[in-house]
Amino acid sequence: MTGRPPSVLLGVTGGIAAYKSAEVVRRLRDLGCEVTVAATPSALNFVGEATWAALSGRPVLTSLWQRAESVGHVSAARAADVILVAPATADFMARIAAGRSDDVLSAIVLMAKAPVVLAPAMHTEMWLNAATAANVALLRGRGMLVLEPDSGRLTGPDSGPGRLPAPESLADIAYCAAGAGPDRPLRGRRVVVTAGGTREAWDPVRWLGNRSSGRMGYAIASAAVALGAEVVVIASNVDLPDVAGALTLRAGSHAELESAVVSEAARADAVVMSAAVADFTVLAQAEKVKKTAGEAPVLHLRQTSDILAGLSRNRRQGRPLLIGFAAETASEPQVLIRLAAEKLAAKGCDIIVANDVSGSAVFGDDRASVLILDHDGPQLHLADEPKLIIGGAVCTVIAGRLG
Ligand SMILES: Cc1cc2nc3c(=O)[nH]c(=O)nc-3n(C[C@H](O)[C@H](O)[C@H](O)COP(=O)(O)O)c2cc1C
Repeated sequence: MTGRPPSVLLGVTGGIAAYKSAEVVRRLRDLGCEVTVAATPSALNFVGEATWAALSGRPVLTSLWQRAESVGHVSAARAADVILVAPATADFMARIAAGRSDDVLSAIVLMAKAPVVLAPAMHTEMWLNAATAANVALLRGRGMLVLEPDSGRLTGPDSGPGRLPAPESLADIAYCAAGAGPDRPLRGRRVVVTAGGTREAWDPVRWLGNRSSGRMGYAIASAAVALGAEVVVIASNVDLPDVAGALTLRAGSHAELESAVVSEAARADAVVMSAAVADFTVLAQAEKVKKTAGEAPVLHLRQTSDILAGLSRNRRQGRPLLIGFAAETASEPQVLIRLAAEKLAAKGCDIIVANDVSGSAVFGDDRASVLILDHDGPQLHLADEPKLIIGGAVCTVIAGRLG
């Protein structure tokens, strides 16, 4: 990241999901990005130019001939730190795979030196068609990040793979890709990220939990997708849109999360344990505990197993790379460094990301302060940065360690 706000060229093509592009613009603007929208003629059948112009605060590029005196597609391609096409139709991908440039957006993509992220959205039959699959493989081979579409409800009552992922998440991935440059150092790597906070039930309707929102884990997962990794998110009670292009598994309790992460770790290059996992579970009652006047129920707590230490004990030849999180209340930086180093040694992991949670500053926030520390000592201190930037830094450290 250069210090100035990222400049994003958002391409919109003529799929039914074009209406969701307005939300992508909004999230990008909330992240501080400068956004220019370029739309194909077909996209204008779905959304009016005024919607994007008003939300982005900039003129919309709709034709190659619109700013001929300044050769608009050339200046737009050169100004972009990242190009996100959402939705990308089957037809558009076929055109850019063939190197065509007969509309403003395909001309921009053909010009582009910046990273290109495509979010395909279409009916399942179109997505699974051999022609589309071949175009996607070709574009990936040329270095474009083509996200897997979500599975779910399509235009009508039908459902299957082909849905546009959540607009907020597409914006997050574009933001991370803008900071990452055109190389994708996690390409070919499988990264597992746990996120959120476990809940330990003490009767059928109540639980003991914690305040983790999952934002940090989702930011790391978004950055890992942007850096080219195959990403599995193990989400524990997270109320955020799924990370675009990643596989999301749900695990509610400590026991569910342990079982999911142990199984996924076997095939992973790196496991990032950013979920807040319960240190104690409760002996749960089978029936709802009744409120009886003057009586307070007694909860019997039992210590849970240490999932990160267990992964560390059971791995072979240092794989997967293990990244732990330490949420500490530290009075000063030296205390945070000491607590993080102690945790690194106790868990036997490779990297610790320590954050100071004094005053509950971190939970649910879009920003945080962290210290990244490994066995050689503190590596990086990030103070009051967006979690997406911190996610990018963590993934860059992981990529460096994986080599
Ligand atoms: C109502 C309607 C919905 C469409 N939805 C999609 C879609 O979701 N994905 C897709 O690839 N094509 C979709 N199409 C087909 C494209 O609009 C068509 O292939 C067009 O040539 C795409 O142009 P563009 O890629 O230049 O925007 C749809 C067409 C219509 C009429």
